[in-house]
Amino acid sequence: MRKLLVTGGAGFIGSNFVRMILSEQPDCFVVNLDKLTYAGNLENLAGFENNKNHKFIKGDICDAKLIERIIDEFKIDSIVNFAAESHVDRSISEPKIFIETNVTGTLTLLEATRDKKLRQFVQISTDEVYGALGREGMFTEDTPLSPNSPYSASKASADLLVRAFGHTFGVQYNITRCSNNYGPYQFPEKLIPLMINNALNDKQLPVYGDGMQIRDWLYVYDHCTAIWKVLTEAAPGEIYNIGGCNEKANIDVVRLILGRLGKPESLIKHVTDRPGHDRRYAIDASKIINKLNWKPSVSFEQGIVKTIDWYLANRNWLANVVSGDYQKYYDSMYKNR
Ligand code: NAD
Ligand code: DAU
Repeated sequence: MRKLLVTGGAGFIGSNFVRMILSEQPDCFVVNLDKLTYAGNLENLAGFENNKNHKFIKGDICDAKLIERIIDEFKIDSIVNFAAESHVDRSISEPKIFIETNVTGTLTLLEATRDKKLRQFVQISTDEVYGALGREGMFTEDTPLSPNSPYSASKASADLLVRAFGHTFGVQYNITRCSNNYGPYQFPEKLIPLMINNALNDKQLPVYGDGMQIRDWLYVYDHCTAIWKVLTEAAPGEIYNIGGCNEKANIDVVRLILGRLGKPESLIKHVTDRPGHDRRYAIDASKIINKLNWKPSVSFEQGIVKTIDWYLANRNWLANVVSGDYQKYYDSMYKNR
């Protein structure tokens, strides 16, 4: 039986990953460690909270003693590190916590992996470490790291630490670099759920700049199947780009959401652009497709409908998430923009 420590498993992608494992991999036990920041939510564990192969622990990846205790107590063989501060806009206004969690937290997990001689460490990284593209080209695994935001700089720093622990201490690692995810349980600070939430409430939809920035979208379940492939089939030290070849301009994504919800395009408001905004991302995923035989199963056209329908069917989840500090965050980010 695999015994995994999954960090950040109460967040968006982490909770989708744990849900997939528990429903599809009976020979896998998951300890789910999450600090429950604003982005972590126990409601994201719906349906598997009490699964016998799942143990949730509230805690911080920077807490070395806790990590060691978990590894010993549950005989963990591998770590999959999703835990992070993940929102670019927040990293622009408050970068420090990004360094603490994304860099120091990853370092803490790497030290435990080394000291406890774990079998594998999988770092969930991002395509943003490569920087931005012009009209042409795609990121491959050999594209030089050139992060532009405090968020992506913290993720690139973590990637370099992972590599260094492999080189210096022989830690068996893999790094995955995925493009933009969307799907159920995504916090409405990110483009797609934010626009769905605003449209449902007939609020303005704040499109940064001209809205012609391009993101390469992947349905979250497909990201999770790719990570499972890496966890079970990748050779040590290999890095994999993950993406679905779904390049879309932001404005087109926003128009699609409005159309599906039957809301008018007059809700769109072009607002001041994000400082240092990356213009285009595009992922060349041929390595994982050819070497690990992975492929995405959900097209963007299917995925966006599934996602909108999920938010419509889970209005309570959305209402709970946007209660509390969310409005304060929203006002600080969007008022007077
Ligand atoms: P998220 O913000 O939804 O979730 C992050 C989770 O980590 C939350 O549950 C939070 O409580 C937890 N966390 C934060 N700090 C912690 C700490 N110090 N200790 C323990 N837990 C902590 O993020 P997400 O969108 O699910 O992203 C997950 C990972 O995937 C991140 O590492 C991110 O960089 C990466 N990634 C995200 C995307 C995307 O489109 N969302 C794409 C590629 C890669
Ligand atoms: O590419 C992978 C990355 O994708 C992940 O590593 C990050 O964790 C994740 O947050 C995401 O980063 P982005 O900055 O691309 O995602 P976000 O949803 O914040 O923005 C998507 C695009 O939409 C981006 O060009 C900015 C724009 N945008 C976003 C928001 C929140 C708007 O125009 N208006 C908005 O209100």
